[in-house]
Amino acid sequence: MKKNKEKITKGIILAGGTATRLFPLTATTSKQLLPVYDRQMIFYPLNTLIKAGVKEILIIVAPEHSGQFLNLLGSIFEKLDVHLEFIVQTVPRGLADAFILGEEFIDDDNVAMILGDNIFEANISDSIKNFEKGGQIFVKEVPDPERFGVAEFDENGNVISIEEKPEKPKSNYSVIGAYVYDSRVVEIAKTLKASSRGEIEITDINKKYLEMNELKVKKIEGAWLDAGTFDSLLEAGRIVKEREIYKNFHSETEKAISEFNKNLKNIAKKKLF
Ligand code: DAU
Repeated sequence: MKKNKEKITKGIILAGGTATRLFPLTATTSKQLLPVYDRQMIFYPLNTLIKAGVKEILIIVAPEHSGQFLNLLGSIFEKLDVHLEFIVQTVPRGLADAFILGEEFIDDDNVAMILGDNIFEANISDSIKNFEKGGQIFVKEVPDPERFGVAEFDENGNVISIEEKPEKPKSNYSVIGAYVYDSRVVEIAKTLKASSRGEIEITDINKKYLEMNELKVKKIEGAWLDAGTFDSLLEAGRIVKEREIYKNFHSETEKAISEFNKNLKNIAKKKLF
């Protein structure tokens, strides 16, 4: 471990998994490369991190789609001071696996992890920028909390429990797919046992930080979309368009994406003539 190094916050995007609910679309590409309105889904979590000033980002991908991610993202941000790395997750062992796979990348820095299929309207940049220690998660009130991680609060608004997909949710506050932790998350992830669905759960990481009294929970407003089914994917595109979420992109990121698209068009035209 390096000593006396100023801690920075690195970023991880979890973009692997099997996405069977989106089959056959995901037979030919990764869920996170499917379009949400006018751009690939992965650009939304990337934008969240870049907007928050994160300069080093690790993208975790499934083996069968690694080449496609590299084609799209390999050089796109080279003019921005943002460095992307890729790692293949051979088996989708669960969300907490991101921190085991990312151990060397994280080193002794802090890390913000965003799920590759989560799109949210709220700006969480300040929470990422000002993060110092412990764990920080974000929750949003939803009508169907049993589909997600659920946070329970006491009368003073302090979080008192977190449960993964409970049959009887103790509140309507769902944990959204954005998490910030200090580097202890790596050791915590390594101690986890698989849950009844056979995954190492990020909810168990949050429970550990809660036990240590070091978990902060922020309630967010605005749209939150987890684009994992045909309906939610369609809904995501519609909401991104209607609420103009695609216009909230960091200007340099938007420029990099547009230039890349322009180059692609030129290459395609040359091939045609
Ligand atoms: O969307 C927020 C919810 O995400 C949280 O409320 C839950 O607490 C959390 O467990 C998670 O729930 P899901 O079970 O719905 O996550 P899902 O399996 O859809 O995976 C989320 C993303 O992570 C998706 O883009 C696929 C990717 N993934 C998933 C697994 C299990 C991986 O890259 N590798 C994996 O091993």
